[in-house]
Amino acid sequence: MTEIQHVLNEERLFPPSPEFSAKARIGSMREYQQLYDRAAENPVEFWSELARKELHWFQDFDQGMVWNEPFVEWFVGGKTNACYNCLDAHLNSETRDRNAIIWEGEPGDVRTLTYAELHEQVCKFANVLKSRGVGVGDVVSIYMPMVPELAITMLACARIGAVHSVIFGGFSAEAIADRNHDAQAKVQVTADGGWRRGKVLPLKETVDAALEKSSSVETCIVLRRTENDVVMKEDRDFWWHELMAEASSDCPAEALDSETPLFILYTSGSTGKPKGIKHTTAGYNLYAKMSFRWVFDWRPDDVYWCTADCGWITGHSYIVYGPLSNGATAVMYEGAPNHPEPDRFWELVEKHKVTTLYTAPTAIRAFIKWGDEHVEKHDLSSLRLLGTVGEGINPEAWVWYHEKIGSEKCPIVDTWWQTETGGIMMSPLPGAIPTKPGSCTVPLPGILPAIVDESGESVSEGAGGWLVFTHPWPGMLRGIWGDDERYQDVYWSKVKGSYLAGDNARKDQDGYYWIMGRIDDVINVSGHRLSTIEVESALVSHPSVAEAAAVGKSHELKGQAISAFVTIKEGEPNEELRNELKQHVRKEIGALAVPDEIRFAAAVPKTRSGKIMRRLLKDIAEGREQVGDTSTLEDYTVLANLRDDES
Ligand code: WT7
Repeated sequence: MTEIQHVLNEERLFPPSPEFSAKARIGSMREYQQLYDRAAENPVEFWSELARKELHWFQDFDQGMVWNEPFVEWFVGGKTNACYNCLDAHLNSETRDRNAIIWEGEPGDVRTLTYAELHEQVCKFANVLKSRGVGVGDVVSIYMPMVPELAITMLACARIGAVHSVIFGGFSAEAIADRNHDAQAKVQVTADGGWRRGKVLPLKETVDAALEKSSSVETCIVLRRTENDVVMKEDRDFWWHELMAEASSDCPAEALDSETPLFILYTSGSTGKPKGIKHTTAGYNLYAKMSFRWVFDWRPDDVYWCTADCGWITGHSYIVYGPLSNGATAVMYEGAPNHPEPDRFWELVEKHKVTTLYTAPTAIRAFIKWGDEHVEKHDLSSLRLLGTVGEGINPEAWVWYHEKIGSEKCPIVDTWWQTETGGIMMSPLPGAIPTKPGSCTVPLPGILPAIVDESGESVSEGAGGWLVFTHPWPGMLRGIWGDDERYQDVYWSKVKGSYLAGDNARKDQDGYYWIMGRIDDVINVSGHRLSTIEVESALVSHPSVAEAAAVGKSHELKGQAISAFVTIKEGEPNEELRNELKQHVRKEIGALAVPDEIRFAAAVPKTRSGKIMRRLLKDIAEGREQVGDTSTLEDYTVLANLRDDES
């Protein structure tokens, strides 16, 4: 039996306001349904039509899609360029002088770049890369703080057909070296440092250690950001500003085959071994562009802020390629959300008059914990739309976001997707789809999800099962870098003909999707298969709880028992609260979901991208990992740091 039991009921429904819908690109459920149905009838025709309209073609394509499971090609025979679509395409319109990037550094320095200015910088840096021998197919490894030059480097690669591999600035030298080796990176781009909580992250120092083991890297280009001392190795290391000073700004975009690799982005599999997810040019570009426009209901006067780092797919698709190919204005912020004070995000929203805010549930839970007073200090009336990504959002956190940040007037788009999907797959279209807290609602046009059991059969109505997609889409990964077998095995071997996402989900009576967590995380209590998020959401709905993680732990009689890790909003935990929380879950869900064990944690351990480290928690629950001194609040940071590349 593979079906997951659904135990937590969320009945609240939030339709968009008539004013929001009236102005929206897609303003009603009917309009969405028409578009969805047309796309579903013939996805290849649907995407081909859009591709011809939305991308610049140096040469038209002759086939919409070629599908040799598990390998897909889109817009075959065509030639385009993602950098051209993001920049050059706007230079003959009024967008030319619109801000492409509004950037703020952690110390408070602000820089803006119009489309014309960004174009010039990108052309120059593309010439710098060329002068270092970089051409079509060469891999450029990027390890930088969140500064405009990070986006400039990505776009410069795209311009000349080089493949970028962005490595999040928190990774260790070991992790960089592994990734550089796997990708056979030729050039490394980094900075002397970046600002984080008032301190300098010594990025160059970390890169120096990584490059000791990266024999393929011939050149390292270093941006000056923090003015701290760095060692420059002769003939290998060059200053960004020195190379740029000599570079010409004349660099036409290469006409590239649709399937030219655009980037590699490393993500960890369940084995912990990082895998290089490969995305290519035309299909990815089109998908990032359309999904951005639909989900964020983008308008030219929007000031859009995605708080992710470019080291994650969210930064690739929804800071760089999606917004820029639409001509949007995107805010980019370098530092921590609580520096110098926990109100930094709200200060930024007020200062830059942000209209659209896209962030992660883990950040929202932190804001709740830090207290409403930090939010209340600021005027957030510029906001019109909110979004979340990365994990399921507990309904209580959703409602807080809706009330405190959105003043009950901004729709929330809970966007489900993955590094592998390239762009958002399921999300409310905010003017059309009434939202339900905790549900990512409906698939985007051209996206065909299904929920199946282990034999690939559809599960019964309302039941939870494996989330799959039955038709390829343009933004889909094209493979795992250098490992076709693993690609086939992970995504295509379990359910014939479908992409296996690795998440469980259920579809309710209105056709709304609810993500239930990773397949491997299901908790099996006496034959009842429960999803982690439902138990966690029940705990988080208690007023004292800030955050909760639930994992299964072997149990002689029940098979598994639930072990819950809880952080509380304030004060010291005690036995009374522990019992109260058990009672609370009994009331919200029922006796079968009551945790056998509740452990109070100073903080739930997270990966660098903000996801709960369930494998670690499982090991702790099972006693495979020892938590040294167990005072009232357990601290797992040391253990979490030890597993530092589990991202
Ligand atoms: C996994 C993908 C997509 C960009 C950031 C994460 C979980 C993501 C949601 C959501 C419930 C979500 C899934 C998914 N996830 N968004 N809205 N609701 N779960 O990318 O690191 O590739 O992780 O994140 O489990 O499979 P990623």
